[in-house]
Amino acid sequence: MPSYVYFQKQFMPLSEARLSVMTHCLHYGTAAFEGIRGNWNAEQEQMYLFRLKEHYQRLLCGCRILKINLPYTLSELCQITVETVARCGFREDIYVRPVAYKSSEAIGVRLHNLDEDFLVFAFPWGPYLDIDKARCCISSWQRPSGVPQAKITGLYVNNALAKTEAVENGFHEAIMLTPDGYVSEGSGENIFVVLDGKLVTPPISDVMLVGVTRDSVITLARNELGIETVERRLGRSELFAASECFLTGTAANITPVAEVDRRKIGDGKIGNITRKLQELYFSVIQGRDSRYLEWCTPVYNK
Ligand SMILES: Cc1ncc(COP(=O)(O)O)c(C=O)c1O
Repeated sequence: MPSYVYFQKQFMPLSEARLSVMTHCLHYGTAAFEGIRGNWNAEQEQMYLFRLKEHYQRLLCGCRILKINLPYTLSELCQITVETVARCGFREDIYVRPVAYKSSEAIGVRLHNLDEDFLVFAFPWGPYLDIDKARCCISSWQRPSGVPQAKITGLYVNNALAKTEAVENGFHEAIMLTPDGYVSEGSGENIFVVLDGKLVTPPISDVMLVGVTRDSVITLARNELGIETVERRLGRSELFAASECFLTGTAANITPVAEVDRRKIGDGKIGNITRKLQELYFSVIQGRDSRYLEWCTPVYNK
């Protein structure tokens, strides 16, 4: 089944979309992007896009930082995305990748006097960390401070360095620290621990990307499990004191962490709170929980 893309203001097969080698964003990382999940509900034969609006709010924030003025409103971006996914006709879990980018064929480091474009495409994609439990390491690469907290392509090089270092050393994922040594996030996920029965996650000020999944987990834990999340600085060694640890992200969903730097977290098995949150989250993202349907945008007209 072919993927479609909305590109240069029209829909076309993904295989036909082409960019020049001189495109500005290729050289200088001048693009804001998103990752959105489409979750297939086989019973209802429906595809649900999870928290579409919130993803585009974050994209538009990245656009403001990069001085990208898209000729679309939030609701038009959502509509274009629904139409792109509907054209693809997938009947399985997918990933949707919108990109707002400096499209001029121009060399020179800057944000001004450049054209811009928006594209979005979708493709089938199962679990990102295709494992029950992740073995993580603390990365030797840090999350840099003083950079915009937005999903901007140019900011991902440290994350890529961290991820590959982790995988080449036999781990599944890297946990990055802030420049002053506190836990920040995974290379593509936010992190939570259970410490003394409380859910703890690093604060927004600790230079991570503020995740949509992070917000969903905080909300579900509060509303459905009666657990408040404490947002506070998390020391590296507190990871080893935690009884549970998990990563959250659109691609990774909720992935339990079994080990950090070859030390077991808790008993190394999926903890109770993690399991409950995982079950809730999967039912919510697949549109099976009527209490959270406002987070799910249906794609197919029935
Ligand atoms: C560096 C980083 N942190 C955290 C996240 C989690 O964000 P979200 O839950 O919005 O996907 C992502 C994924 O987009 C990411 O790339």
